[in-house]
Amino acid sequence: MLDTCGREVRTLRLSVTEACDLRCRYCMPEAGLAPRGEPLSADALVAIAQSAARLGINKIRLTGGEPLIRKDIVMICERIAKLEGITSLCITTNGTRLAQLAEKLRKAGVHRLNLSLDSLDDARYRELTRGGALAPVLEGLARALAAGFERVKINCVLIGGVNDMEIEAFVALTRKWPVDVRFIELMPMGECAGWPQEAFLSAEAVLQRCPELRPIGGEGVAVRYRLPDGLGAVGLIRPMSHAFCGECDRIRITADGMLKPCLHSGEEISLRGLTGEALLGALARGIGNKPATHHLKEGHSDTDRRMNQIGG
Ligand code: 5AD
Ligand code: SF4
Repeated sequence: MLDTCGREVRTLRLSVTEACDLRCRYCMPEAGLAPRGEPLSADALVAIAQSAARLGINKIRLTGGEPLIRKDIVMICERIAKLEGITSLCITTNGTRLAQLAEKLRKAGVHRLNLSLDSLDDARYRELTRGGALAPVLEGLARALAAGFERVKINCVLIGGVNDMEIEAFVALTRKWPVDVRFIELMPMGECAGWPQEAFLSAEAVLQRCPELRPIGGEGVAVRYRLPDGLGAVGLIRPMSHAFCGECDRIRITADGMLKPCLHSGEEISLRGLTGEALLGALARGIGNKPATHHLKEGHSDTDRRMNQIGG
């Protein structure tokens, strides 16, 4: 289905929980956050996915919080992967439980996996996530690569002065493994909204640090590069320095069942309790109302939600 700007909306980011077992400093306060509402049931999630597919959405990404802390996540994946019209099912995870779940998720029909990982250094990882352990995440990555997903991507949020000295190490992963490494500019939302300007590093820094990267053309919201001997690509996602709203083909649904036509808009449409034609109508309204652009350039996001409450 087309929105009012003529963009074909193909992707649904469906958050399955606000909760997370990590406390990344830019995302969550130390004590965590009280959930805004009950997460949607497996049945409700599947019904939404099915209606979205009827409106032309063919790609679904499950997000959070941390999706893999849901006990029923494998079953949810299995049911969504089977839906008519869904050609791509992806999941975004912080990887803490990936070693145990990678194979089960692949068998359940998950096509692709995105691993959020902001440091390859034990101590820095622990500091950034407030207590997370890096080793199980790296084991999860190895298991995911062995499980035969169509693609595995690593998403690294760039934080000036915190992890920019690891850019080369992240890029080097593409030499070792067939993974895509994507650098994401930190967005001023939630915990990091008031952080100093230096933290909001432009993704151009990646090209300065790694001049051997060669452009290979864009894909969705990422501009892509490759090392001459790279097995995977290096992507830059630049919500801050380059608005990519014109290419945006997605809508989002929060864990508590609110449809958000744009990550940064304050507008929300409640889907909770809706079924059948009512659900279809509400989804169609959300797609139709997708705003033309966000206002991050003006220094703020119009949503009062944090990333874990929206679904990264
Ligand atoms: N800016 C950019 N990315 C963010 N994420 C969370 N908060 C922010 C932010 N302020 C990312 C996480 C993860 C996904 C859930 O969203 O690192 O990749
Ligand atoms: Fe959890 Fe992701 Fe937020 Fe880190 S950034 S606390 S992994 S939701």
